[in-house]
Amino acid sequence: MSLKTSYHFIAPVYDVFLERSTSQARRHSLARLPQQGCLQVLLNGAGTGLDFPFLPPCHEYTALDLTGAMLARSLDRGGDLKMTRVQGDGMRLPFADESFDVAVLHLILAVVPRPELCLAEAARVLKPGGRILLFDKFLRRGQQAWMRRGLNFFIKHFATRLDVVFEEVLETAPGLRVVSDEPALANGWFRLIEIQKDMA
Ligand SMILES: C[S@@+](CC[C@H](N)C(=O)[O-])C[C@H]1O[C@@H](n2cnc3c(N)ncnc32)[C@H](O)[C@@H]1O
Repeated sequence: MSLKTSYHFIAPVYDVFLERSTSQARRHSLARLPQQGCLQVLLNGAGTGLDFPFLPPCHEYTALDLTGAMLARSLDRGGDLKMTRVQGDGMRLPFADESFDVAVLHLILAVVPRPELCLAEAARVLKPGGRILLFDKFLRRGQQAWMRRGLNFFIKHFATRLDVVFEEVLETAPGLRVVSDEPALANGWFRLIEIQKDMA
């Protein structure tokens, strides 16, 4: 089953499982967005829009997701936000180079089959000096985590990967620098990471 198909069926129940447990981490991550000005902000893998309540209204948002059913649910959120919704692939973004100031990658980098492509695409569409706000679950380098690696074999096909090591993905993306890296949930399995793209 493709991720697009499985998230079509997950869409109606997604919020029941994820809304409460992740809201604090989302708030914390998105508090890094300035409260003034008008930035171009990409939400890659925007899903049902659980981030939307924490977005400052001053910016212009592009919410991209592979799954129409997830994006359709997001229509209930967002209120007066200036937002364009796009159905597309976060590993092959349909946007020009250097079009965004910020890319929000919440629970997407460890979902897609090729996280290095997803990160490279986010870097490509960011302006020099732009930032990536990351919230996801990562293994540490050398961490055994047999249970998660075992489960990954099945779950990666329909929900998420459980074996992604952030540092290994970052190594594939030149020109990106980690600004901060904090534990968020589940004893640091989930992390909030802020990344900056080098100036040209
Ligand atoms: C775990 S959900 C996260 C949704 C949202 N970012 C959040 O934090 O709640 C993963 C989302 O990624 C989307 N997705 C999966 N593969 C994708 C891809 N290649 N490009 C863009 N979105 C994708 C799914 O449709 C789903 O909405």
